[in-house]
Amino acid sequence: TVKLVVVGGGSSYTPEIIEGIIRRHDSFPVTDIVLVDIEAGKEKLEIIGNLAQRMIEKSNKPINLSWTLDRREALKQADFVSTQIRVGGLAARSKDERIPLSHGFIGQETNGAGGIFKAFRTIPVLLDLAKDVHEICPNAWIINFTNPAGIVTEALLKHSPHKKVIGVCNIPYNMRHSTAEILDADPNDVLIEFIGMNHFVFGKKVYVNGIDRTKEVLEKLSGDLDYSPANIVNLGWSKTFIEATGLLPNPYHQYYFQTKEVLEKDVKAFKENGTRAEVVQNLETSLFNIYSNPSLYEKPKELEERGGAFYSDVACSLMDSIYNNKQDVQTVNTINNGAIPDLPEDAVIEVNCMITNNGPKPISVGALPHTVKGHIYQMKAFEELVIRASISGDYNDAYTAMVMNPLLANEKGSKVVLDELLEAHKSYLPQF
Ligand code: G6P
Ligand code: MN
Repeated sequence: TVKLVVVGGGSSYTPEIIEGIIRRHDSFPVTDIVLVDIEAGKEKLEIIGNLAQRMIEKSNKPINLSWTLDRREALKQADFVSTQIRVGGLAARSKDERIPLSHGFIGQETNGAGGIFKAFRTIPVLLDLAKDVHEICPNAWIINFTNPAGIVTEALLKHSPHKKVIGVCNIPYNMRHSTAEILDADPNDVLIEFIGMNHFVFGKKVYVNGIDRTKEVLEKLSGDLDYSPANIVNLGWSKTFIEATGLLPNPYHQYYFQTKEVLEKDVKAFKENGTRAEVVQNLETSLFNIYSNPSLYEKPKELEERGGAFYSDVACSLMDSIYNNKQDVQTVNTINNGAIPDLPEDAVIEVNCMITNNGPKPISVGALPHTVKGHIYQMKAFEELVIRASISGDYNDAYTAMVMNPLLANEKGSKVVLDELLEAHKSYLPQF
């Protein structure tokens, strides 16, 4: 038997993971799926549970599905535990976006002040989950999708007894697919050598069937082409930036290297449609309407309007490769272990790994490129400050995390935003 527990099973993304499991069932024969959620997510869980049931029935695969609010019960005998939670829901995300924005800073769910507070709310909850996993199903792999995925994964690996934790994101997947499109190649033949951290990762080299085609991609990238998911503005990159750095940026880098322009666009969008959280709230309402239709037996196309679309491909191929000891290459968030010699050994990085039944083995990428070295150092040190504050609940720790983030970097402004966010999220921040 193979048992998968989806924590945050009531999420609108769940039909993706169900589809992914069904599609891979011949090589990765999951026998049991349990969707878990909390009281506040009960109604959504019910709708998702029923849709997932219909999808499984239609597929004719022998999978037992159930859904519950009893997490500890669900975890019994689990082999894989995937986490896709949002502490405080979209209402909390909206505050993460609005409050910094109202003071002239980027308001984004995984970057800047918003990302810091998402980490503060999430880390204690996931540490608690990891404790349960370690006690109830110590052999299970935690596949963490919960954002900020890199920071959360590092916090778990450093501060929980459970060491089988892998962080995942769809950005490397998206970059590989858009690069394939640029080169008119099959995405399965494309390998990007990644270097950096989650949502701050660069592509260093692009290979198609082993042939280095980096130069071609960089040249074409400097045109209008870009690969932003649905949730991020797409401003494109100047020829100079791409040529000078010699790297493929990821869409989130726009927040750091085009801060003023993104801010202008975000403020405008915010005035017209509210923040991304509010756009997603509307999207969710219509998605759940669609999901409730008893004659729907598959993942609807509309789900692709979410920025995290295709995440399940990432999660399912990862679990498939662990289960089958495939030893193929996938990009995940895991312990550095010397893959980037100039970052700490125990830092979590986003890196190509060989995926074995013992987990991901990072493939050495060598020293950080001289062009972005300083920025990556700063971001890693910043991530450490966030983790420290998430655990200590100390005001000064939280403040340093804020002021050392390049999207804040303002001594008075950081305090104003920090105090407002601390107050707004009070009920989700027991450590402060
Ligand atoms: C990206 C990121 C995910 C993030 C998502 C947000 O694809 O990689 O980590 O959760 O976008 O999408 P949303 O539709 O919630 O704005
Ligand atoms: Mn992501």
